[in-house]
Amino acid sequence: MSTLTKSAVQLPPMSLRVGKATAKTAKAAPAWSLRLARSLGAENAVDLLVHQHRQIKLGFLKAALPGPWRSRNFHRLMRLLAVHEAAEEAHVHPVARRALRHGREVAARRRHEEKAAKELLISLWRTGPDGPGYLRRLNEARRVITRHAAREEREEFMALRQAVSAPRLRMLGAEVRLTQAYAPTRPHRWVNNEATNKLAAPVLGPLDRALDAVRHRGGT
Ligand SMILES: [Fe+2]
Ligand SMILES: [Fe+2]
Repeated sequence: MSTLTKSAVQLPPMSLRVGKATAKTAKAAPAWSLRLARSLGAENAVDLLVHQHRQIKLGFLKAALPGPWRSRNFHRLMRLLAVHEAAEEAHVHPVARRALRHGREVAARRRHEEKAAKELLISLWRTGPDGPGYLRRLNEARRVITRHAAREEREEFMALRQAVSAPRLRMLGAEVRLTQAYAPTRPHRWVNNEATNKLAAPVLGPLDRALDAVRHRGGT
C-alpha cells in the first residue's frame, strides 16, 4: 500500500485533472439519453457510488458483530462489494479514463487497488464468517477497501463531477444500476476490468445468484 499512497500523493491538483476530453464529454447529453435516464429513475452515478461506500463501511461493522446475524451480514457485505466494484470496473473507471486529463493513471491506480482488495476478499470469502481468523481478515479488508473508497472519492469522483455533464452522470447511474442487477455476487480473481466484467457478468452473475439461493434455502 505504500506505493499506492506515494503514487496517490503525486497526483496533480484536482483542477488539472479535467482534460481536453472534458469539453467533449461535458456537452449536454442527447435528449433521448436524458429521457431514458429519467425513465429508469436514474441517480447520478457518483451520488449512488458514494452512498454505497457508506453502506459498505456500515456493512463491515455489521459483519463483525457476533451472533446469529453474522452470516447474513457477511453475505450481504460480500454481495454489495462485488456488485459495487463490478459496476465501477465495467463503467465508471472507463469513463474516468476517457474524461479526465490524467484519467489513465487514475483508472490504473484504482484498478490496482481493486485487484489487491479482491485478493483479500477471496481469502475472506474462503474463511467465511465462522472460520478461524475471520475478524482479522475482515478488518484487513475493511482497512484496504475504506482507503480505496476514500481515494476514489477524492481523486476520481470529484473530477468526474466537474468533467462530465449531469445528464451523462445520470445515464452512468442507470448503467451502474443495471450492471449491479445481474453482476456476480462474490469476488472472482480474474474479473477485474471492463472487458472481463462485461464478459463474465452474464455467466457468473446467474451462477452466483443460483448458489446464493441454494445457501439461502439451506439457512446459512
Ligand atoms: Fe472501487
Ligand atoms: Fe467504490
